[in-house]
Amino acid sequence: MPRGKYGVSEAVIRRLPKYYRYLKEMEKAEIQRVSSKELSQRMGLTASQIRQDFNCFGGFGQQGYGYNVTELRQEIKKILGLYRNYNVIIVGAGNLGQALANYSNFEKEGFFIKALFDINPRLIGMSIRGIEVLDIDQMEEFVKKEPIDIGVISTPKAKAQEVADLMIKCGIKSIWNFAPIDVEVPPDVVVENVHLSDSLYTLAFKMNNGS
Ligand code: NAI
Repeated sequence: MPRGKYGVSEAVIRRLPKYYRYLKEMEKAEIQRVSSKELSQRMGLTASQIRQDFNCFGGFGQQGYGYNVTELRQEIKKILGLYRNYNVIIVGAGNLGQALANYSNFEKEGFFIKALFDINPRLIGMSIRGIEVLDIDQMEEFVKKEPIDIGVISTPKAKAQEVADLMIKCGIKSIWNFAPIDVEVPPDVVVENVHLSDSLYTLAFKMNNGS
């Protein structure tokens, strides 16, 4: 169902980061111009799909010229909302929470991890790449002082709903949920679930079905 200010479908939204990633790579390779046919071959989509997707946002190409790679990347960056910075906290500073905090590339696109929170006294007080692990009881106070845009859930699944509720109570409107459970949120809060295992099982299916 079409959603949001652009009124585009979930399927189109899902393709935008992929366009952005490919265009970034092309820019790095100093490719200045690309036709929808070329882009489609690189990305494994059809040229008409690409044109249709871009038309949802007003269309970016010129007849007979194709797309200017840098301009198109900038447009998609704008559409994705990557023109500003986001403050992020991670709740659950275990294996996954620490791995996310250790990954410095999120900052390059404007996602700044401000703190991790946990209940385990052995983790509280630690610092990961200079980012502190704080007691979950400090979260409300912390968010009051430092506005947070995105809350990451990397706790065990049994705690995920209570963590989501706490984030919502603190005014956090966007949740990146890694726990294998669909958390319930009010309509003004967006959740993006990440399930690495779905991707792994898809790989297993492909391996076993020759596709
Ligand atoms: P872990 O056990 O290493 O870390 C979980 C951390 O959450 C612990 O440090 C624990 O003290 C903390 N915690 C528990 N209750 C809490 C609460 N109420 N408030 C704050 N912190 C709390 O587990 P791991 O391996 O890091 O996995 C974390 C979650 O991510 C699990 O739900 C797991 O299933 C999921 N996961 C998801 C993946 C994905 O693809 N989405 C991949 C790997 C893990």
